[in-house]
Amino acid sequence: MAPIAIPDAQLEAELAALTEKVLSANIGKKSSIGFGFDAPPPSTLRRYHKYGVDLSQGYPFYLEPDTPEYHEAQKRAANPRDGRPYADPGLKADREKKALFGAAKSVNQLTKHIGTELVGIQLKDLNDQQKDELALLVAERGVVFFRDQDISPQAQLELGEYLGDGAVANSSTIASVPGTNGGVNIIWETARTYKRSFRLPWPEYDGYRGHGWHVDGLGRYIQAGYTHLHQDHVPDDSGDTLWASGYAAYDILSPGLKKVVDGITGIYTLGSEKDENGRTIPKFVHAPLVRTHPVTGWKSLYLSDRGLVGFEDWDKNESDHLLKYLIDVLQGSPEIQVRWKWTPGASAIWDQRNTVHAPVRDWEEERHGTRVLSLAAPAYHDPKSKSRGEALNIEGWLSPAWTGEAYIRSGYELPP
Ligand SMILES: [Fe+2]
Repeated sequence: MAPIAIPDAQLEAELAALTEKVLSANIGKKSSIGFGFDAPPPSTLRRYHKYGVDLSQGYPFYLEPDTPEYHEAQKRAANPRDGRPYADPGLKADREKKALFGAAKSVNQLTKHIGTELVGIQLKDLNDQQKDELALLVAERGVVFFRDQDISPQAQLELGEYLGDGAVANSSTIASVPGTNGGVNIIWETARTYKRSFRLPWPEYDGYRGHGWHVDGLGRYIQAGYTHLHQDHVPDDSGDTLWASGYAAYDILSPGLKKVVDGITGIYTLGSEKDENGRTIPKFVHAPLVRTHPVTGWKSLYLSDRGLVGFEDWDKNESDHLLKYLIDVLQGSPEIQVRWKWTPGASAIWDQRNTVHAPVRDWEEERHGTRVLSLAAPAYHDPKSKSRGEALNIEGWLSPAWTGEAYIRSGYELPP
């Protein structure tokens, strides 16, 4: 949709009228999960106004349970692309990414193992070849960042549909942008229980534990892949996001622990179902803990602070110990992480298949962003696949095995 050019004073008056309209449409409304209706922040309102998002029915939009749209979304989530296998656009890309890099002013590697910033690119202007190369870059680097994006929610949805080969998560419970049928989710504390959550004790903390390292979509969908979060309203001193590389989390394990985790099966929660007595009980899916990324062919640890409950054929005590250790590796290793400071209009596109992320919970003012979660394909484990460190031959990066000599070097002495 073409932007509308109008003078400032007229724009301010139109935005004020739009706010009034949203607020009056919101009166008496309650979301299916019981909270969250307000006018969007000013910069969000400007973006919606510019791109003609219809707010006349109130804000935000929720798919109401037990409506035809709700059931349609559930059906699509269970069977995206009508059973057609996922064709990852990253597989079609030129490995050198000449079309994408050629359009950028600069390509900045933010850390050695995760995170690239592309400067001078507008996501809305990418052609298909550049989108394929972007998918490959995200598959390799975990997360790719862009500042100062001028993108409508509709264009964001189109990009997400391209990256998901026609399938995005149409969330049935998360607040969404009106007119996108649940396809463009809103990440906005006002529409959630954990507004200013860093002040709240657990369990009012929305079920998060620790620092909230997680994978989006886990517990709701078969497999989330490329994910695009565009922030249109952020505080200037807080609210960063951290990402950790699943490739690097695997690479820094010792050869001995790699042998243990390679090939074990994680038990992940996948939403809920009713038992024969009508009680809501968790549903589980068993999937490999170490997964081979279909585009890069590299092994990645698929971890999450929530949603991964234990390991098949391990007892709970054993599972708890290993899980705790792996989560400690993930959140305690800055060399496998990147921290991104948001600015209004910044976008991040990351891959749920090879990263884990966490919000830095220090903000008091609200943040508002729009997110599209592209669906991928169920994960698999190929025992013959290499780790990223092995494939790229990153010298000095792979963790050495400990031997008796290493214990002596570390100061171990014979007992008296
Ligand atoms: Fe998230």
